[in-house]
Amino acid sequence: MSKEQQQRVPVWDPLLRFLHWALVLGVLAAWLTREGYGRTHEWIGYGVLLVVVLRVLWGFLGSDQARFRHFVKGPRSTWRYALQSLRGRAPRQLGHNPLGAWSTLLLLTLVFAVCAVGWLYTTDRYWGIEWVERLHAGLTDVLLAFIAVHLLGVLWACIKQRENLVAAMVHGRKRQLSKTDQQ
Ligand code: HEM
Ligand code: HEM
Repeated sequence: MSKEQQQRVPVWDPLLRFLHWALVLGVLAAWLTREGYGRTHEWIGYGVLLVVVLRVLWGFLGSDQARFRHFVKGPRSTWRYALQSLRGRAPRQLGHNPLGAWSTLLLLTLVFAVCAVGWLYTTDRYWGIEWVERLHAGLTDVLLAFIAVHLLGVLWACIKQRENLVAAMVHGRKRQLSKTDQQ
């Protein structure tokens, strides 16, 4: 491996990393308190909601790699990237790739929806209404399914790029782009 490839450059800023791991812990805690923990579960849920709101704000105000404008690409580029990935020829990128970008938006939207419906269920008007409770639980199942896809995607990208992306989400740095990365 050349010196250029070994060099690591900052990619994920500290707030983005903090919000990611806070989201992971929050969703886990909400899941573990889903039955019989009443108010504790609700407060954890509000914490998760706050994390999502902060991440969305950071998507407008944050560092380049955190900004939606910087990483969300249109359907054409995303489709092209998906085809390149299937052929195993997708160029390596430092920040989110186009598929990762859409999965970021999807995960944030799903977590927001779970929390919003959870809150709805606590209001006088919707308390005890069965479809609201079922929607809250159903959206949670969809979220869990996409978290599984997210984890498989991360694992796949780690193998393809021969880089520990989980560690990169901790320390924030990734291997510098080399000429062979930009096909
Ligand atoms: C509740 C579960 C999880 C949720 C909701 C979630 C959500 C997200 C989101 C929204 C992003 C985009 C980061 C941003 O722009 O803010 C992301 C990226 C990432 N997540 Fe997670 N995540 C979860 C669990 C995990 C776990 C358990 C791991 C590690 C084993 C992980 C590893 C990563 C990595 C490595 C990235 C960066 C991917 C890249 O390099 O492009 N995530 N995750
Ligand atoms: C990521 C966040 C959240 C997750 C993953 C989550 C998940 C769940 C799940 C799976 C259940 C069980 C539903 C059932 O089996 O019928 C549940 C129940 C409930 N959730 Fe959430 N929830 C979250 C956030 C919230 C929020 C923000 C609120 C309200 C502020 C909330 C209020 C409730 C209430 C009132 C119940 C029924 C309570 C009980 O039986 O003790 N949840 N939640």
